[in-house]
Amino acid sequence: MAAKVMHAVQYDSYGVGAAGLKHVEVPVPTPNKNEVLLKVEATSINPVDWKIQKGMLRPLLPSKFPFIPTTDVGGEVVEVGANVKSFKAGDKVVAMLNTLNGGGLAEYAVAKESLTVTRPAEVSAAEGAGVLIAGLTALQALVNPAEVKLDGTGPRKKILVTAASGGVGHYAVQLAKLGNTHVTATCGARNFDFVKSLGADEVLDYKTPEGAALKSPSGQKYDAVIHCTTGIPWSTFEPNLSANGKVIDLTPGASAMWTFAVKKLTFSKKQLVPLLLIPKKENLELLVRLVKEGQLKTVIDSKHPLSKAEDAWSRSIDGHATGKIIVEP
Ligand SMILES: NC(=O)c1ccc[n+]([C@@H]2O[C@H](COP(=O)([O-])OP(=O)(O)OC[C@H]3O[C@@H](n4cnc5c(N)ncnc54)[C@H](OP(=O)(O)O)[C@@H]3O)[C@@H](O)[C@H]2O)c1
Repeated sequence: MAAKVMHAVQYDSYGVGAAGLKHVEVPVPTPNKNEVLLKVEATSINPVDWKIQKGMLRPLLPSKFPFIPTTDVGGEVVEVGANVKSFKAGDKVVAMLNTLNGGGLAEYAVAKESLTVTRPAEVSAAEGAGVLIAGLTALQALVNPAEVKLDGTGPRKKILVTAASGGVGHYAVQLAKLGNTHVTATCGARNFDFVKSLGADEVLDYKTPEGAALKSPSGQKYDAVIHCTTGIPWSTFEPNLSANGKVIDLTPGASAMWTFAVKKLTFSKKQLVPLLLIPKKENLELLVRLVKEGQLKTVIDSKHPLSKAEDAWSRSIDGHATGKIIVEP
């Protein structure tokens, strides 16, 4: 019997951005014994998706060509593997697909049971798809290196979020406020009101000299910086940090790695911490619960049909999204 086929978007070489995406008909994947097969209702694009295509993570990723990108998916379970206990056909879920395999820019995708969580009716597929890599990264940065207690019971920390209008940044501001911190945020002038509406106490325009200097208007010294953009040297952070301040760098380049090593080796109280997301199911469950309860929102920059996935891809590469970019099959 012929395999059931689906529409998917894939690329088969490094480079060329949106022009490298190809619309194809491929077989619907089969879940292995620990996986679920999902009908994809929404997937979100993260910068790492096009960075993989660009070859920035070679030779590790992509694991093979052709490659169907994206990992962050909201959808419905249509089939379960033999060992899957928590889900059945018809369940609404959000799932983070295996980074090695990708697969989200398609009508169907397989996800491990271990990174799939139930999606309550209050959380749309798009809201759920948004909160995966971006929300998990913001949560991990705040809870681990920044030591913020999300229930607000910890000491009142001073936090700086750079690129607070972006995918990670907009979750970081909201989660930091749940943790009862003082939040300074950087963004472009057009996003001032938006970032304030997320709860930021003060906002800096990154295109002004004061914004570029990261200087808090009210004179705060930051206990932690959730650093969601690039190109800011340690010498700019350093005078703005509290005595034990940390810069948690989500996109550490060579110079950041050098600073990380030097600060470690010299037992500096001020530290640079390179962060790599380690997705955990319990964190995903927490985020979905916060979205359900209205304590955390996914702000959607734009929605694109799968037939126009190139537009979503280009929008992410341009680097000016406000919130999350969503593709809907
Ligand atoms: N380490 C990890 O595990 C991990 C996980 C997730 C993400 N990341 C990385 O974290 C970074 C952020 O990801 P993202 O999804 O949040 O990106 P994003 O959504 O594409 O960020 C776009 C936003 O950044 C703003 N922005 C750009 N340059 C800025 C600057 N110099 N100062 C302030 N705001 C600026 C833009 O505002 P304007 O339009 O006004 O310019 C836009 O709103 C990416 O490099 C990503 O690869 C790493």
